[in-house]
Amino acid sequence: MNTTMASIIKVDKAATSRIQEVDMNNLDFGRCFTDHMFEMQYESNAWKTAHVKPFGPIQITPALNVLHYGQAVFEGMKAFYVDEHHINLFRPDVHHARFNRSCRRMCIPETSYEVFIEALETLIRLDAAWVPQKRGTALYIRPFIFANEDYLAARVSSTYAYHIIMSPVGAYYAEGFNPVSLTTSPDFVRAVPGGTGEAKTAGNYAASFLPAQQAQQDGFTQVLWLDAIEHKYIEEVGTMNIHFLIDDTLVTPSLSGSVLSGITRDSVIQLAKQWEYEVQERRVSIDEIMQASADGRLKEVFGSGTAAVISPVGLIAHKGQEIQIGNGKIGPLAERLYDTITGIQYGQIEDRFGWTHPVTLHP
Ligand code: COI
Repeated sequence: MNTTMASIIKVDKAATSRIQEVDMNNLDFGRCFTDHMFEMQYESNAWKTAHVKPFGPIQITPALNVLHYGQAVFEGMKAFYVDEHHINLFRPDVHHARFNRSCRRMCIPETSYEVFIEALETLIRLDAAWVPQKRGTALYIRPFIFANEDYLAARVSSTYAYHIIMSPVGAYYAEGFNPVSLTTSPDFVRAVPGGTGEAKTAGNYAASFLPAQQAQQDGFTQVLWLDAIEHKYIEEVGTMNIHFLIDDTLVTPSLSGSVLSGITRDSVIQLAKQWEYEVQERRVSIDEIMQASADGRLKEVFGSGTAAVISPVGLIAHKGQEIQIGNGKIGPLAERLYDTITGIQYGQIEDRFGWTHPVTLHP
């Protein structure tokens, strides 16, 4: 291993690369990982020893408190191939701000943007060859922090591990860019007011697996979550936020406190406003959507998320009724949003919003 020092981060390079083992033309989501990862420890009330090192196993003991109580947060972000000298990170500043908000909710010490961005730039430069080049692919970046004290009492940990790992990815859903199907759940809710739904924390996802599994057994891609109190207002999909085009108005469920504040969701809203759509962030009930469909006013439904990008929804099922949207095809607004957001991400469309953070590969 070669050891070099970056300004904040210690860097140990992998002696060899595993990239030959990966078929870049046939990428799954999140199954293979790049040569390097970032690691940092929190102990004695401070983050210390920032380190970029070869990707590999981490040592834990069965008493590790995150394994028992789930005190953990994560982010999901992406980097895009622009040309042989540049890779674009997409909105790392807002991802980091959300990472810290999740930390606050889960009693995890916040991290600095300076270390975050230097870690990302260092990893991207070392693993640039892992950024896939084909349209529709990206390097998915997973920063995460977990409680790592060996202690079985159910209380806040005093030590944490912070990692960033990266994975070249293709489409998140097996449907690719074809419309997905959603069903509401009669029995389960994803998040409650005052709960952790707004945080990107591990347990939110674990809790959604049983209802998602049931939905998949019934032939749907995912669950369309309704609010926990009235079981009436649409919240999100769990792996993405949701948007409805009703006549010419883009309606997006408001951030109720139990909905994840999606970064692609925000990009969709900003673009739709720029294109002079009427944009409403408000409570939207499932009955309103079923009725808008019956009245012929529901033009498009699509999800947005870092992993999902823009994902058209072709069918929604609720209480035994099903509505079809868009005859199995992506709608024009969803397609324009997909083309524009990915165009900005790949550096092919001018970034008027300042969303991209270019990493120069040979500074
Ligand atoms: C993302 O879009 O990055 C997510 O976190 C969704 C994930 C559960 C894959």
